[in-house]
Amino acid sequence: MIPLSLARIAEVTGGRLAGGDLHRADPQAVVSGEVVIDSRRVSPGGLFAAVAGERSDGHDFAAAAVAAGAVAVLATRPVPVPSVLVADVPAALAALARSVVDALPGARIAGITGSSGKTSTKDLAAQLVERLGPIIAPAGSFNNEFGHPLTVLRADASTRYLVLELSARGLGHIAYLCRVAPPRYGVVLNVGHAHAGEFGGLDQVARAKGELPEALPADGVAILNADDPRVLAMADRTAARVVTFSCAPASDALVRAADIRLDDLGRPGFTLLTPEGSAPVTLRLHGAHNVPNALAAAALARELGLDLDGIADGLRAATARSRWRMEVRQRGDGVTVINDAYNANPESVRAALDALAHLTQGGGRAFAVLGHMAELGDTARASHEDIGEYAARLGGPGLAGLIAVGEEAAPLLDGARRVPAWTGEALAVPDGATALEELANRLKPSDVVLVKASRAAHLEGVAAALLGEAGQ
Ligand SMILES: Nc1ncnc2c1ncn2[C@@H]1O[C@H](COP(=O)(O)OP(=O)(O)OP(=O)(O)O)[C@@H](O)[C@H]1O
Ligand SMILES: [Mg+2]
Repeated sequence: MIPLSLARIAEVTGGRLAGGDLHRADPQAVVSGEVVIDSRRVSPGGLFAAVAGERSDGHDFAAAAVAAGAVAVLATRPVPVPSVLVADVPAALAALARSVVDALPGARIAGITGSSGKTSTKDLAAQLVERLGPIIAPAGSFNNEFGHPLTVLRADASTRYLVLELSARGLGHIAYLCRVAPPRYGVVLNVGHAHAGEFGGLDQVARAKGELPEALPADGVAILNADDPRVLAMADRTAARVVTFSCAPASDALVRAADIRLDDLGRPGFTLLTPEGSAPVTLRLHGAHNVPNALAAAALARELGLDLDGIADGLRAATARSRWRMEVRQRGDGVTVINDAYNANPESVRAALDALAHLTQGGGRAFAVLGHMAELGDTARASHEDIGEYAARLGGPGLAGLIAVGEEAAPLLDGARRVPAWTGEALAVPDGATALEELANRLKPSDVVLVKASRAAHLEGVAAALLGEAGQ
């Protein structure tokens, strides 16, 4: 964080200094630590932004935050400690973040968006760009009106690159994030069904994701997935130079993959093709869907100046930095667990089922423990049925068991039953604990279990229990 006095913070946010009579905010006091919205993460010298959430209100933790070392609290109503009172906390964070960006004209900003794979790609890109110099990238999925400015605020005079994840739940969201930290580089991965219900269909999702290429300047670079027609069409919506990537070796995209194959654990290997030459790459990440993510990261790092060797070495060395995305682990008894419980939408469940099919190719039975996919709107029932059908048609030896967790996931089973040739077992269970009991009676060495659902279902606990880990 660039050190800022409370007077300056008030000026930038249009706020006013306040506090209890004994604790008036000192205009000269300087914030030099992190800005956080979780009072448990306050560090000395930092700023605590009080946000009213569904379960608790950050204002109630204002005193605790200052006791833990926060210089002041950014708040919307009076608190008994030094504070900057503002009308709207997200808007104040945005204004602060923008002032930091404006103070760092030498830092190059990249934004990554898409329906699936933002965090995976951001983590890959960060591990490449780190080779070029000091970088700020969000932890996990810090990609909305809170996480985005909080991430930007971590930048300081030494920062050369910001690699940011941009999410949208509606039109205008990405445009807003792009005003907070105007990117010169923009990556669009795909247009899929994540949050499609809230948007009102795929065309609206495409309109929203296209706000990133639209926000790029003429001297910027739009990095687009040539394999997704809705993404490629965004080439017409940007003033920036367009660079494409593709998993089809014969494509005319600039960065491509040839000879894509998966090892026994579903880790992709491929030949990376770039204008500067080609290089063999094997990823440590699981699932074929990480190939386009790796190409996107490679294309971005290439634009930022990383050479082919650096890109290929970086991709080979890159590890999963954010949890519960295609974690593949084997138990002592030989059962393999795929923990992909971070989130779910139709495209990502298909990708995970493909990985499950691949992992059972060498023998072993496939089980899928699936919770519901949230935020699909009117298409929810049909989407669940389609995924159930897709699961029942799984390649390799086929699916031995489909366990649908929770009422909203039950239509998965209706879809599976549409496949007469499917001989696997269909089970509806109310919760994760029951899913575990059912699995315990069935699992044998060399079986593979996929665990996946939307975030709200918290199925990572099922995966942890299967692996004998404490719940998290
Ligand atoms: N390119 C891709 N295509 C389809 N599915 C993908 C792709 N990349 C990742 N996934 C799937 O999506 C899940 C979530 O990945 P990731 O967290 O990277 O996405 P995200 O876009 O950041 O999600 P969120 O919107 O929740 O932030 C992964 O576990 C994986 O199953
Ligand atoms: Mg994410």
